[in-house]
Amino acid sequence: MARGPGLPLLLLLLLPATLTLLAAAQDDCTCHTNKMTVCNRDGPGGLCQCRAIGSGFAVNCSTLTSKCLLLKARMSAPKNGRGLVRPSEHAITDNDGLYDPDCDHEGRFKARQCNQTSECWCVNSVGVRRTDKGDQHLRCDELVRTYHILIDLRHRPASRAFNHSDLDAELRRLFRERYRLHPKFVAAVHYEQPTIQIELLQNASQKAPGDVDIADAAYYFERDVKGESLFQGHGAFDLRVRGEPLQVERTLIYYLDEKPPQFSMKRLTAGLIAVIVVVVLAVIAGVVVLVVTNKRKSGKYKKVEIKELGELRKEPSL
Ligand SMILES: *[C@@H]1O[C@H](CO)[C@@H](O)[C@H](O)[C@H]1NC(C)=O
Ligand SMILES: *[C@@H]1O[C@H](CO)[C@@H](O)[C@H](O)[C@H]1NC(C)=O
Ligand SMILES: *[C@@H]1O[C@H](CO)[C@@H](O)[C@H](O)[C@H]1NC(C)=O
Ligand SMILES: *[C@@H]1O[C@H](CO)[C@@H](O)[C@H](O)[C@H]1NC(C)=O
Repeated sequence: MARGPGLPLLLLLLLPATLTLLAAAQDDCTCHTNKMTVCNRDGPGGLCQCRAIGSGFAVNCSTLTSKCLLLKARMSAPKNGRGLVRPSEHAITDNDGLYDPDCDHEGRFKARQCNQTSECWCVNSVGVRRTDKGDQHLRCDELVRTYHILIDLRHRPASRAFNHSDLDAELRRLFRERYRLHPKFVAAVHYEQPTIQIELLQNASQKAPGDVDIADAAYYFERDVKGESLFQGHGAFDLRVRGEPLQVERTLIYYLDEKPPQFSMKRLTAGLIAVIVVVVLAVIAGVVVLVVTNKRKSGKYKKVEIKELGELRKEPSL
């Protein structure tokens, strides 16, 4: 029979490919939600276990990794960009946004952060400084929770106009699917061309165990928008509204804490204060302080002072 050897030959030819596929499936020990990890099959029963670079903390790859661990990994990762000019040591160590944080046993920021030597300060749950700097005797009694995050984006003109409801649906889908944030924590999406605002709201009593924290969702989003996605491999950040890519040209992120920050500045006395991290693409960034002048209900922010202007020109945000 002419067809006799056909089938076995075909199988023989396919065999190496099949084996390779199987091997690939078995070796797929990577962390989809965090590329700043090292993964090995050394978990219980030979399970794939991924540990964050920098801390060695075992991370859960079916959810987001905490911002504290991500920041720590970032600080310990080998520096690339050797062709670039390195800012002076002073410029780096004085920077608020980027530091090597201390994380607690859950991977969250410890309330008190110190640089390697003598200087300490208190941070909120997004790791942003909320007090003056002090010495090692500085006390930070608790980690103050950031319960409200306002992400303010400006987009480039799109060739096809979209309306608020298109955008609202798309951004809610993004936070639900990509950042695994429960939809109830996306409080609102506002739009007035070209400015888009996303309000994330989550206080301690609303957050159930296993819920993604708005701090982490906002940080993944921030890195995505900056083109520094934390996700592994496929699934690049591609925000589209009605099929049109949404091109973000600048981002501001405002953090509002459950308790007012304690900066010794006379002007910051009225009401709650938010600490903002400014993320300006390709330009400058830093920490800005806002006052919410007893307008909590209407949610109005009033910008009163730019803090430590010198720090604004250094490393872009966290
Ligand atoms: C820590 O802060 C002190 C005071 O600003 C500074 O002199 C020192 O260089 C800093 N050290 C590190 C490692 O950042
Ligand atoms: C927004 O645009 C969509 C089509 O993309 C349309 O179905 C919807 O009715 C519009 N909504 C408003 C409020 O104009
Ligand atoms: C948390 O948020 C819910 C819903 O907005 C609110 O009812 C509750 O009072 C808040 N709890 C605290 C402690 O602020
Ligand atoms: C990892 O996170 C998922 C989603 O939050 C959760 O269902 C699961 O129990 C977590 N696994 C471990 C080992 O904590």
